[in-house]
Amino acid sequence: MSKESLSITDNRTGKSYEIDIKDGAIRAMDIRQIAIDEDDFGLLSYDPSLGNTATVTSSVSFIDGDKGILEYRGYPIEQLAEKGTFLETAYLLVHGELPNKDQLENWETDITHRTMVLENVKKFMEGFRYDAHPMGMLVSTVGALSTFYPEAKNVQDESVRLEQTIRAIGKVGTIAAWAYRHTLGYPYIYPDNDLSYSGNLLNMLFRMVEDKYIPNPVIERAMDVLFILHADHEQNASANTMRAIGSSLADPYSALAGAIGSLYGPLHGGANEAVIRMLEEIESVDNIPKFIENVKSGADGVRLMGFGHRVYKNYDPRARLVKEMADKVFEVTGRNPLLDIALELERIALEDEYFIERKLYPNVDFYSGLIYQAMGFPVEIFPVLFAIPRTVGWMAQWSEAFGDREQRIVRPRQLYVGERQRDYVSMKDRS
Ligand code: SDX
Repeated sequence: MSKESLSITDNRTGKSYEIDIKDGAIRAMDIRQIAIDEDDFGLLSYDPSLGNTATVTSSVSFIDGDKGILEYRGYPIEQLAEKGTFLETAYLLVHGELPNKDQLENWETDITHRTMVLENVKKFMEGFRYDAHPMGMLVSTVGALSTFYPEAKNVQDESVRLEQTIRAIGKVGTIAAWAYRHTLGYPYIYPDNDLSYSGNLLNMLFRMVEDKYIPNPVIERAMDVLFILHADHEQNASANTMRAIGSSLADPYSALAGAIGSLYGPLHGGANEAVIRMLEEIESVDNIPKFIENVKSGADGVRLMGFGHRVYKNYDPRARLVKEMADKVFEVTGRNPLLDIALELERIALEDEYFIERKLYPNVDFYSGLIYQAMGFPVEIFPVLFAIPRTVGWMAQWSEAFGDREQRIVRPRQLYVGERQRDYVSMKDRS
């Protein structure tokens, strides 16, 4: 069998180099040795958006973008969505194995008893204006948790990391729900420990004057499945942000604030909100052909939101599962009229050469917003409903880095293309 290596000749010097190949990759540091002379720093690899650069080894999630495969710790997402619960999946992502009965019960109890937040958090949130975007409130309030739990700075201690993981998963839902209630001017609802994770979230989001909130089982299960589908997704922009902040040994709440900020962007987790705004702007299936032409012409940078993916060059398996679940939810909530536009938009796009040649398919955000809207959520909350479950993946990815002896503080290099060695110009001589 041929040696797992590259033979490289530097045509500038005629020198040859052997570069090892391991796990389908070469080490970027191995090309540093390729230099013109002793004064030459050596070769860098240039990959502006890390489109072809692995920055970590991980065993949390596996994606095969060409085949449309997503596995959490080796378990297909389809099986977890069909047979599992969100907290069971959270245990799997954090611990690496499915929990046995006792482990699951203890895990559920631990997280359930971490859903309360300190009263100061309530006062902190009351400082936001009535029209503050819930994601902005989530970024700030999760970051503020670092001031309530100073012991979280002991990130090298595995037990501290696990304690903060449980706290973060427990509290993110409460903070998210209170952000939602703040935008409505409604009183905050405290957690109800009798309910499941998703049932309690619905309680904190929607309970009004009833003594006990009873979640609709179809909606509760749909929320749980959506959370399973959104829990992790290997090295996406926000997971990369989480790891980069964590690499400086900052506390996990500060890292989570950064990850939530990254997810907020319309190209990432903000896409589910952008999809609904796009569908509402299209307004009728009759307007789809003109919209598609606008997208293809690149007019004003208009994109088909909820379509395309850096890794999936096939149908996002999560989008298929969300689409299948939509019908069950609509049986309870009533059909979202925007669904007809979404289905026709997908049908037309999947037949159009522009999208086919660019391998643009629906991603997880294309249908999820339709379900959230049918559940009664305003669009501003959609990225928050993405951040809640993704907190599990961010914490699992963050913690995994501490077990990787090769991980150090993230410090990329650059290709400097600016001016050099310029002398100061006094004001009178400046044009
Ligand atoms: C998520 O990374 C993850 O795993 C993210 C995520 C997760 O679970 O964490 O899966 C969640 O963020 C899903 C993606 C949600 N974002 C959107 O739906 C926004 C719309 N989609 C995109 O803007 C885009 O597809 C990205 C951001 C998702 C991916 O962008 P890439 O890989 O950088 O692709 P690109 O911008 O280089 O585009 C390649 C070509 C370009 O055309 P050309 O310049 O070659 O002519 O495809 C075009 C783009 O213009 N293109 C689109 C398009 N997406 C890419 N054209 C129209 N509509 C789109 N949606």
